[in-house]
Amino acid sequence: MRENRLLTLALTYEQGHSRRSRHILSVLRLTQLIADGEGTQGEEREALLAAAILHDIPIRYCKETYGDASQENQRREAVRMVPEFLQKAGYPPQAAQQVLPLVLGHHCYEETPGPLLQILMEADLLVNLLEGEPVSPAFARRFFKTQTGRKLLETVLLEGGK
Ligand SMILES: [Fe+2]
Repeated sequence: MRENRLLTLALTYEQGHSRRSRHILSVLRLTQLIADGEGTQGEEREALLAAAILHDIPIRYCKETYGDASQENQRREAVRMVPEFLQKAGYPPQAAQQVLPLVLGHHCYEETPGPLLQILMEADLLVNLLEGEPVSPAFARRFFKTQTGRKLLETVLLEGGK
């Protein structure tokens, strides 16, 4: 199954880096959970889950190469790395057209995301909150749109984000 191959490739690439490896696994799982709640199926679901696995994949390369994983560097490297990972895992060439915009857009909070990007961004924000990142609860409450994401957000905010 290509999703499993992609996950294995991404985890292998992270070489046991604990925070980034756990982040991939957590974002993937919460993306699945929210996607199930939203009834996301078929090709869209496959592209969304691939994007969840790859959403932060340029970080290691950017840190090692530029000493800095700025959004700009990450976006530039994602254009190259995302299609490479997808191809290695056996996805068809056109998969990158669906997956790459999700990866590139997942930090663009100033724009209104489409439904798939919304799910990925909610999952990423939830995991960031669980990891103790400073995310404003007021911002998160405004941003979250899906029923599953909203429910999870309130649970997560009980502990860290009052
Ligand atoms: Fe992330």
